[in-house]
Amino acid sequence: TRVGVFFGGVSVEHEVSVISALQAIQAMNSEKYEAVPIYISKDRAWYTGEELLDIEAYKDLNQLLSTAQKVTMKSSDEGNIVLQKDPVPRFGKRIEAEIDVAFPIVHGTFGEDGVLQGFFELLNLPYVGCDVLSSASGMDKVTMKQILRDSSLPVLDYVWFYSSHWVEDSQDIVSMIEEKLGYPVIVKPANLGSSVGINKAENRDELEEAVEEAMEFTSKLLVEQMVQDMKEVNCSVLGDYEEVEASVIEEVLKSEEILSYEDKYQGGGGKNGDATKGMESTDRVIPAELSEDHTSEVQELAKDTFQILGCSGVSRIDFLIDQEKDVVYVNEINTIPGSLSFYLWEPAGKGYTTLTDQLIQLALK
Ligand code: DAL
Ligand code: MG
Repeated sequence: TRVGVFFGGVSVEHEVSVISALQAIQAMNSEKYEAVPIYISKDRAWYTGEELLDIEAYKDLNQLLSTAQKVTMKSSDEGNIVLQKDPVPRFGKRIEAEIDVAFPIVHGTFGEDGVLQGFFELLNLPYVGCDVLSSASGMDKVTMKQILRDSSLPVLDYVWFYSSHWVEDSQDIVSMIEEKLGYPVIVKPANLGSSVGINKAENRDELEEAVEEAMEFTSKLLVEQMVQDMKEVNCSVLGDYEEVEASVIEEVLKSEEILSYEDKYQGGGGKNGDATKGMESTDRVIPAELSEDHTSEVQELAKDTFQILGCSGVSRIDFLIDQEKDVVYVNEINTIPGSLSFYLWEPAGKGYTTLTDQLIQLALK
């Protein structure tokens, strides 16, 4: 089986995607699967070739991309998917590499949000992970909350609006936020990952400043109640709408009150070969120190979130626990989590090779 692993992409999570994908390729059972790397550059060109498998090569990207093969992708007359050399020769040999299944490991915009998934649908190519709708609704924090709230899952109270409404009448929105949520609040772009443009606000001035900053990234904004005394825990879910299992829970320990983009990806490190963990300056506790009740509540909520959103493959659902009120909230979902959250499956004896095997088999089911 030829597995096209798509990675890189246009989002701010480009680098972490390269690490996640190369790890996954390395973990794949090479007797069963042949991995075809397909790297999406920041300017959206696609490349393939053996040289893309070496993480060191990314240090000199210009050199790497001058040797890798630039490609486009189409379905062939025979119904399989072919990579074409670019520029496409009019009568030339078309088939560079056939792919039986796509494995998107692209975080964030155009990779995790349903766009790439829609392209695979169009090609009639089976692919690993969430479909278009679940990817898209998982990426948009407002849409996700609306869907989960409709099924009575616990999410933090929020107000959302478009930047154009803010420009027109910010006072109207400010009063709505103050009435409904009070301070402190967290301001977030509704549809970006990786903590980009996320800020805390303790008063009206800070709120206005935080909204202006988030508006630089997107036109859809979310303001959420902030939990003061909180614990942040994550749980991964594997399966589809028929059958799911939940992983152990990790606790994310952090120095700042909001896990910043720098915390997440620029902290240096590289410990344990885990893209998310390795690039963070923060620490994780696996399994998280939680009561039995909270452990099963988080795992049940993780499975419910995954299935209500219609997910498949592996996702990581992030929770906030309000320690003062003793309430668990679903905070967000990552439908293509960093490192595919393999490290949450290892404690139960499911290694990365087994995880990638299960994911590919789910896609081919
Ligand atoms: N969005 C990143 C990759 C994560 O939280 O796992
Ligand atoms: Mg994310």
